[in-house]
Amino acid sequence: MPTPLNILITGAEGQLGKSLRKTLPADVKAHFVTKSNLNLENNGAIDAWFAANKADVIINAAAYTKVDQAEKDRAAAFAANDAAVRNIAAAAGKNQSYLIHISTDFLFHGGFNRPIDEEQKINPVGIYAESKAAGEKALLDAAIPAAIVRTSWLYSEFNANFMKTMIRLGREKNEVRVIADQHGSPTYATDLARGLWQMVAHMRAKRPQAGKVELYHFSNWGVTTWYDFTTAILGIAGIRTPVEPILTHEYPLPTPRPAYSALWPRKFAKEFNFPMRHWRTALVDAVNAYKLSEGVF
Ligand SMILES: NC(=O)c1ccc[n+]([C@@H]2O[C@H](COP(=O)([O-])OP(=O)(O)OC[C@H]3O[C@@H](n4cnc5c(N)ncnc54)[C@H](OP(=O)(O)O)[C@@H]3O)[C@@H](O)[C@H]2O)c1
Repeated sequence: MPTPLNILITGAEGQLGKSLRKTLPADVKAHFVTKSNLNLENNGAIDAWFAANKADVIINAAAYTKVDQAEKDRAAAFAANDAAVRNIAAAAGKNQSYLIHISTDFLFHGGFNRPIDEEQKINPVGIYAESKAAGEKALLDAAIPAAIVRTSWLYSEFNANFMKTMIRLGREKNEVRVIADQHGSPTYATDLARGLWQMVAHMRAKRPQAGKVELYHFSNWGVTTWYDFTTAILGIAGIRTPVEPILTHEYPLPTPRPAYSALWPRKFAKEFNFPMRHWRTALVDAVNAYKLSEGVF
């Protein structure tokens, strides 16, 4: 049996972090860290971690993800999404760790009307998107062996997310009003986690090129709107509350959302031979996992 790979997973208490733990393969030695036991904004803490531990691969699932709050808290968003990426990229370079960094569809604001591949130019709007774009640039500038994996509309049975909010509202309200003019690709965090483990397994077989930062898009297949996504969530959950479609301007938020940010994950699926699922198929599993974990229905 080959020696297990040492993997450092940051953001362990986030929904992706928890999904990576749920899907952990047997042949890796995982070190899951939270902000309280390894704050990536603190270079001293990172150095101390690497002095005591080894990481062949780092999966950076840590981020500041409060999109609307970021407008009032620019410093916090940039600290976690830009400075922290710079820090972990420097540590990865020094310690010969391959870095897989997670980014977002929020970089694609305006002007898109068909699924977005890795060739498209980013157009970040809002503090959250700008801070994530700055993090990507920090990693590209570091020019270490690394990958940026952009994902979209992430949801799971863990923590707060759109699927769980819609199920709660569907149970509490007589009607749920949901935006019907924003398009994207939902991504079940379990599928993303399995994809990342598959990526790690492939890297083990084929050493990544020095100094190269690869870009990948990852979502479940298919394009939908928040409205259609909600009708599917409630349908699968067996909740009969009516869903009323509304337009973006009827539900103003501090941060503008992309009107179309569906990702095209073909490069990831092909390169890592990953069986990407349609979002509806993945959603059935997610709703069932939520039912099992919380006994909510
Ligand atoms: N959620 C989505 O819809 C979505 C969509 C597209 C892309 N993404 C990207 O996917 C990735 C994972 O998202 P997620 O939904 O799993 O996020 P999440 O649930 O918010 O988890 C992020 C985790 O990172 C931790 N963290 C924040 N600052 C840190 C720091 N300085 N040092 C160490 N840890 C820190 C947070 O800890 P605290 O809670 O203690 O601060 C949190 O546990 C992120 O890169 C995000 O930008 C998410």
